[in-house]
Amino acid sequence: MQRSRALFASALWLLSGAVTGCGGSGDRSVDDGTGSAATPPLPWAFVPFPEMPVPADNPITKAKTELGLLLFYDPIVSTDREVACVTCHSELWGMSDGLPLSVGVDGVGPVGTGREGPNKTRRNSPTLWNSAWRGPVFWDGRAETLEEQVLGPFETPEELGRNVDEVVADLAGIPEYRDLFSAAFPDDAEPVTVINLQKAVATFERTLVSNRAAYDNYVRGDEGALGEEAVRGMYLLDELGCVSCHVPPLFDSPLYEDRRVPAHPDVPDDLGRFEATSIDEDRTRFRVPSLRNLRESAPYFHTGTVETLEEAIAHEAGVDGRTLTEDEVRAIAKFIVAGLNDETKKPVRPLAVPSGLQVPLDGFRIPR
Ligand code: HEC
Ligand code: HEC
Repeated sequence: MQRSRALFASALWLLSGAVTGCGGSGDRSVDDGTGSAATPPLPWAFVPFPEMPVPADNPITKAKTELGLLLFYDPIVSTDREVACVTCHSELWGMSDGLPLSVGVDGVGPVGTGREGPNKTRRNSPTLWNSAWRGPVFWDGRAETLEEQVLGPFETPEELGRNVDEVVADLAGIPEYRDLFSAAFPDDAEPVTVINLQKAVATFERTLVSNRAAYDNYVRGDEGALGEEAVRGMYLLDELGCVSCHVPPLFDSPLYEDRRVPAHPDVPDDLGRFEATSIDEDRTRFRVPSLRNLRESAPYFHTGTVETLEEAIAHEAGVDGRTLTEDEVRAIAKFIVAGLNDETKKPVRPLAVPSGLQVPLDGFRIPR
């Protein structure tokens, strides 16, 4: 039942324009049509990284991107003037924060695994890499667009906790922000508005693109880009049916599924997609996350209760009735870590922000 629903859902996803090979479809070398070398063997049909969907009323500009970056790092947005978006979505933690559940205002400690505090979120902080392609966002898909999502953390007492109109009033009182908003929205008589804050932050998020991973080089014809073990892992993803949900080339999909992840002990009542739709069959279903850039974004799942990628992979195979050998788990992890990671467009952290407040400090991190 579970399985047929998943297949049906992925059939819809196929019809919606994405194309993936069926499990075990065998080698297929496809020319990408650009005249470059043919694609090395792939277990699925080659699909190029899609064009970024950008809303017609919010085209990407340099001025908006710069303003969005400063707003993302500026703790002026929070009640305690210490928490910013980066507190839970840091470039040093895979655009997440290394914690099972995030710690918002009035927390103690730098961004990262040591941070503690009274205000915790109900779910694990998702990575923001490639969120431009996510369509509806949040684990339950309750925000339709990135622009809409920006208001979420303001309204949530355990995140920023501050009324967004108050924040905008503060921003309007800072000459540097007034100039930055004017440059970003030159046609607006009064550019410092909530909607323009949403547009600027969403534009900054659209710069978080990871499409230069080893897998991307491989499909462009560089056969040596993926080692033997990673290639084996890639074939296993196909054979095990992982790609019916984690659909290449983004390795995600707009599906919601119940992967039987045990609830976090502090959050026994998370109903997932049901909370957004009130449709009974959406109970405890969660959005399919991308397998790109998972190297730094542990712990995993909406609960953040699974610490290693290997455990997450074993769990996922188990849900579909497969027990993997250690070798198989390692091969899949290798493909994900070495084949699907690309942080070349990592944001450059500003040293100072226009409010004059301290940019949230990041904990020391041993690179993996
Ligand atoms: C205290 C931690 C915290 C702060 C601060 C925070 N977030 Fe988040 N963010 C989260 C958590 C947790 C989720 C998942 C919530 C859910 O799915 O219900 C999330 C989800 C998101 C998503 C959806 C991603 C996806 O793929 O579903 C985006 C985009 C996002 N945050 C951007 C921001 C921006 C922009 C800011 C600053 C205005 C911000 N966040 C501030 C913790 C935080
Ligand atoms: C039926 C759809 C489906 C299939 C098939 C599937 N997944 Fe998932 N996967 C999901 C969903 C949904 C989640 C999030 C579940 C949650 O947090 O409750 C997820 C989460 C994950 C995560 C954690 C990512 C993160 O950011 O937390 C990994 C890793 C993963 N899957 C790997 C795999 C592998 C490997 C396979 C094949 C063995 C697989 N998945 C098969 C839907 C699927």
